[in-house]
Amino acid sequence: MPVALITGASSGIGEEFARQLAPTHDLVLVARDVAKLERLGEQLYDAHGTRVGVLAADVSTRAGREPVLARLSDRIHPIDLLVNNAGMGYSTGASRNPVDHEMYMLEVNAVAKVHFSLTAVQAMLARGKGGIINVSSICGIAPAWVDSLYGTSTATVLRHTEEMAYSKALRSSDVKIMALCPGDVATDFNRRAGIPDKTDWGWVDVQVLVRVALADLRKGKVVSIPTARYKFLSSLMKIFPNSWSKMYGYDLGAQPPEEARAGGRG
Ligand SMILES: NC(=O)c1ccc[n+]([C@@H]2O[C@H](COP(=O)([O-])OP(=O)(O)OC[C@H]3O[C@@H](n4cnc5c(N)ncnc54)[C@H](OP(=O)(O)O)[C@@H]3O)[C@@H](O)[C@H]2O)c1
Repeated sequence: MPVALITGASSGIGEEFARQLAPTHDLVLVARDVAKLERLGEQLYDAHGTRVGVLAADVSTRAGREPVLARLSDRIHPIDLLVNNAGMGYSTGASRNPVDHEMYMLEVNAVAKVHFSLTAVQAMLARGKGGIINVSSICGIAPAWVDSLYGTSTATVLRHTEEMAYSKALRSSDVKIMALCPGDVATDFNRRAGIPDKTDWGWVDVQVLVRVALADLRKGKVVSIPTARYKFLSSLMKIFPNSWSKMYGYDLGAQPPEEARAGGRG
């Protein structure tokens, strides 16, 4: 059985990747909430007989990332598919949010994701095969969510993915790397970030999002933007990046959520 490692598997998009991959993969689930991961692992074992390993990791620090990096580099028990998904956001603009909170977001959403992606790329190139899904965002395509490092962090992941995908090393191998750029998906993300649950463009169903992402990876796509509505929006963002950002960009002005004030969880 191939093995998939999923970060941020305790909730939302990562949890749905675990559910859809469970019939065909052994799983390594990563997050801070180990109790949730264990409950999910039991459900998947009962439903499909899936072998599930759980890794507790706070990916916001180099030390916290170590167990994940070690698992990704393990040549004896290799990882066939990395779903590089753990992430968070804030509702408060970068111009007013405590700088440490913004740096925390950059660590989780950009540094950790690039760290895991590059580690997996090198291990997979050494084997000659493998797949990586780097979860970015529609916000990474062009300036959209102005006054936030969220867009900066997701753009970093998108750019890194494209740079690697078009490199000679990957093009001449069976290692596939893809950025997934979701629009608004109804998960715990907004509640944790303190963002009101509303959307200008409509929710993407999480089951559809993950199904399309896995199909796009199989097709060899480099960037996956599920649903026609968000494909259209991303085209507008590329054509009119600055004027569009002025129309769409917003700063909700809410306070950082309780979790974030207490220690950076969000
Ligand atoms: N929902 C959307 O509308 C949307 C749109 C575009 C992109 N995205 C991206 O999709 C990804 C998943 O978000 P989601 O919507 O599924 O949100 P979610 O339901 O809040 O899930 C976030 C996941 O990330 C994990 N996580 C957060 N901080 C972590 C840390 N420091 N260390 C380890 N794990 C951490 C959480 O686990 P623990 O708390 O248990 O550690 C949780 O499993 C994120 O990268 C997000 O940027 C989401």
